[in-house]
Amino acid sequence: MNTKFIAGFSKLSKEEKIRIVSDELLDSTGFSSDLKSLNHVLPEKQLLLEQFSENTLGNFPLPFGVAPNFLINKRNYIVPMVTEESSVVASASAAARFWAEKGGFHAKVKDCLKTGQIHFCWHGNSKILIDSKKDLFKYLLKNGLTLTQRMIERGGGVRGIELIDMSDKLENYFQLKIGFATADSMGANFMNSVLEDMASLLKEYYNGSESNDSTNNPVEIIMAILSNYTPDCVVECYVETRFSSFDGIYEDMTGEEFARKFKKAVDIAHLDPYRAVTHNKGIFNGIDAVVMATANDFRAVEAAGHAYAARSGQYCSLSKVNISEDLFKLSLEIPIAVGTVGGLTSLHPIAKWSFEILKRPAIHELMMIIAATGLASNFAAIKSLITRGIQEGHMKMHLGNILTTLVCTESERHSAIEYFSNKKVSFHEVEKFIKKKRKS
Ligand code: MEV
Repeated sequence: MNTKFIAGFSKLSKEEKIRIVSDELLDSTGFSSDLKSLNHVLPEKQLLLEQFSENTLGNFPLPFGVAPNFLINKRNYIVPMVTEESSVVASASAAARFWAEKGGFHAKVKDCLKTGQIHFCWHGNSKILIDSKKDLFKYLLKNGLTLTQRMIERGGGVRGIELIDMSDKLENYFQLKIGFATADSMGANFMNSVLEDMASLLKEYYNGSESNDSTNNPVEIIMAILSNYTPDCVVECYVETRFSSFDGIYEDMTGEEFARKFKKAVDIAHLDPYRAVTHNKGIFNGIDAVVMATANDFRAVEAAGHAYAARSGQYCSLSKVNISEDLFKLSLEIPIAVGTVGGLTSLHPIAKWSFEILKRPAIHELMMIIAATGLASNFAAIKSLITRGIQEGHMKMHLGNILTTLVCTESERHSAIEYFSNKKVSFHEVEKFIKKKRKS
């Protein structure tokens, strides 16, 4: 085991960092030349990419694709997607096309509010805190205005403050729960700045500005941070059609059989968390891909979505199916906290094109596009699962990756694709086929 620690790594130049990491590798020249080969051709763009993070050695490219024919609230979109998983873009595209002919996706944003929290302990008579809360709120709003002014001009700002007494759960623990509207931005920096500012004001209000010493001061700030749980920033999205639209969707299955089997598959994801996690992962295949393509924070969207899926106390499916007479309706309700401005949305050299491809959507529109892509992915996954299974399609897509691994020529690729069009794909079989072809 290497027990040598590297001092001051972050201060080294990129070349020095690459050299240190290369020294740990068997093929150090291979590593540095692969990194170099993926550098942006324009040095200023390469520098921009490197500055997004720290200790950057190079770029880590992922495919940037599009799913066309997304009809959402009667508008037709080409949806940009970034994903490493083969078949996600293809299946979302196929689902989008299928639903476009049946009225498309219907979506609406229920609300677009976010929450921040100041967690603190009150070492004093809690009646004093509770009785003075209204004056405290006024003080916070008035004095926190410098940071919120620009956001207010953009239509956002602080939407409410609540004092929550949780001292029965943790000794002396209280919370200020602050509602925010963040206009067209995801608003993380804005909220965290306001929260930290308000935490200082809270301390100042009760402890006085002089004293930093905690003895005899009632307020002890624990932390001030936004919550990534956004149950008031939710999109509802659905597709619906008559059973007969599914006639012929798979072999001799009738439209009604398909619809009822589909409902059972989704119902299972309501009952069983093991299935629900995989089911929701299929929804996030689409959601994350658009969130990534627009340089938004996919960890935040995932975290909120999974917490929302467990809001009843049991983790379950984010989508559901309703059948009424011969009408099939697949719907999704999901929190989507993203932005169309701020963060990397305009800095990332490709993300800004994603917004252009989407025709510069307003924030609510982007939230609905993301939800619709999640629902399309969910429809495509369940459709495959209840009919031919997912492996046939996956392995067809995977064939391309295998052929790339085997460094195939165009003509080898061509004949392999033709040969495997009606056969099971496995690495072993493809390798055997290519070896045989090369020998002959
Ligand atoms: C694979 O990435 C996603 C699925 O497993 C989703 C699902 O099972 O619903 C196919």
